[in-house]
Amino acid sequence: MQIPDIIIAVDGYSSTGKSTFAKRIASEFSFLYLDSGAMYRAVTLYAIEHGIISPSGEIDRQALCRALPALDIHFEDTGNGSRTYIGDKCVEKDIRTLAVSDKVSLIAAVPEVRNFIDDRLREFGRKKRVVMDGRDIGTTVFPDAELKIFMTADPVVRARRRADEMKRKGEKADIQEVAKNLRERDFIDSHREVSPLTKADDAIVLDNSDMTIEDQMKWIRQIISDRFSYVRV
Ligand code: CDP
Repeated sequence: MQIPDIIIAVDGYSSTGKSTFAKRIASEFSFLYLDSGAMYRAVTLYAIEHGIISPSGEIDRQALCRALPALDIHFEDTGNGSRTYIGDKCVEKDIRTLAVSDKVSLIAAVPEVRNFIDDRLREFGRKKRVVMDGRDIGTTVFPDAELKIFMTADPVVRARRRADEMKRKGEKADIQEVAKNLRERDFIDSHREVSPLTKADDAIVLDNSDMTIEDQMKWIRQIISDRFSYVRV
């Protein structure tokens, strides 16, 4: 299988299956997968644990800016997927809780946080052959990405998928609560001043409400084959 050295940006609304899709693309084409949301979630976890964001969502912006430069967020490959770390502590499970989801969009709206994470993401992208998922990858982080996908799906389908995912991981998941969190995050993400969630002009929309992951892989293989003369062997 051949595919040139490109960057693939997968942006879209919460719980549209961006990470599942991006991971499959990475594994099929031997690309590096990067979960930009995990970085925002890790900063948010740190802020919650250090009292930088209050339960009602007020942010001590000065304390947050002071903490950022020393915050060592990185990924380690366990052989069974990549895990998010802060320093030497694996936070993969802690960053996926509803408590973090509840505050992450507030933290992600802080410009200094976005600059800090954008710089890290661009470093990862320097060697290309990267598929990255997020909200602003195709608009801000890599506006020149060679392939941009914008994912969307029916809100009810999204809430059900996220609740099922949480249950599989042994977490409590009330579907109404999950749906409310998705609505709130989509609203904050789409309306923030810096790098709001929006479709890049040259992104291709994928509504996967009625698609399986295999349907999505067929769809992307066709696009890659059309655009990059990808040769299946
Ligand atoms: O998994 P899900 O789609 O629900 O969210 P995520 O990708 O883990 O991202 C969590 C949150 O981080 C989003 O709701 C955004 O507020 C923020 N985010 C962002 O602002 N920009 C990105 N490139 C990625 C995530």
